Amino acid sequence: MLTSTAIKQLPRASTRSLRSIQASRTRLQLHRLYHETPQSRASVETARSINPTDPIANLPPTWTPSPAPTTIRPQLDVTKQVFKPSYYQAVAEIMKLRSKYITNRSIFVEGSDMVSLLLGLGATPSDLDRLQHVSNNLYSDPTLPFRRSRNGRFCFDFSSQSVRRLEFQPFALSVEEDFKRHDSGQIRIFDEVQDELQLNTAFQALLVFKGMICHGVSTTQRPRLDYSSDKWVCTLFNLRTVTTPHILGEPALEGVHTDGVDHTMTTYLGAENMDVEANSAVTYMHDMNEETGAKYTEIKPQHLKSRVQHRHFLDTLLLVDTENKHSLSPVLPVDETKEATRDMLIFFTRRPVLKKGDGVGHISEAIDSFRPHGELPMEVPLFLPGKIHGKGE
Ligand SMILES: [Fe+2]
Repeated sequence: MLTSTAIKQLPRASTRSLRSIQASRTRLQLHRLYHETPQSRASVETARSINPTDPIANLPPTWTPSPAPTTIRPQLDVTKQVFKPSYYQAVAEIMKLRSKYITNRSIFVEGSDMVSLLLGLGATPSDLDRLQHVSNNLYSDPTLPFRRSRNGRFCFDFSSQSVRRLEFQPFALSVEEDFKRHDSGQIRIFDEVQDELQLNTAFQALLVFKGMICHGVSTTQRPRLDYSSDKWVCTLFNLRTVTTPHILGEPALEGVHTDGVDHTMTTYLGAENMDVEANSAVTYMHDMNEETGAKYTEIKPQHLKSRVQHRHFLDTLLLVDTENKHSLSPVLPVDETKEATRDMLIFFTRRPVLKKGDGVGHISEAIDSFRPHGELPMEVPLFLPGKIHGKGE
């Protein structure tokens, strides 16, 4: 584990993260939180008794919630959607996208389609509105001067069929993981994502969406990760890339890279003064033969697989990170005298690091806790497609 002296020397976005680490050390009680009403559970149980062979009987499993602190903010609950036609339309569309993802190893979903899917999963229109402004509360980044950031860790737990917030851990990516930048291998401390984002039902629906697409999808495997685990870690970044008259904002300063995970999802929240027509923030996907670290201006056509540009709220790219490298062009301003910004949610998802004795040496070995977050708990149920008909992966 990291010592207190070592942690004090790490690059951090603000002192709040350090306080969070210190607080987490004093936390002993584990939390299992699920925010549902007795009425919602009763409605599902009633439906099961009426038609025990209906697919909803498998959706989700019987839940035994722990006592949870009172919250006045409703959270996403797919079990409350099971009598709404829009829910099944969303599930059907997501299953089509999942098939496309399995075949193509990446998908790009238009924001207008994502709105329908997230609403179908139970997100509220008001939370969709709030999501567009959540990046206004980003302030700094531990190593990049042109970026404002927060992160948070979540667990896709396919045994409990839920996704929950995990306790704070520092973050690192290494050259070994095809991430070559001045801060490669450096342990970084980000400000933490707050309830403003994690309790937003549209955000929670994005997590459920990613779980539905990726669960059970076989990929090329990374070394020193535990591919037998049914618990995946999802590190979520809320990022604002900023170009000013004095500094160029680069969504991927590292050039061609991978994110060191199994599945990466990038969702566009909005931009100000960004020149979309000038090829701002275009994502290029490359085959694995492209040179790691190459700038987007140096990429070779023979390795280029596709090009996408997030333009509209909730435009979403999902790719198999072990089978695609990617790079991005910078954020260019329309008015060069003013700041230009681009706001994103980035969802990294990978298997846990193998523990000592199984295969040591992964850069995240000491920062891969799966303990729930004590101060910022969140847990919502997942819908798992492989479970509809009682089948496993
Ligand atoms: Fe990336």
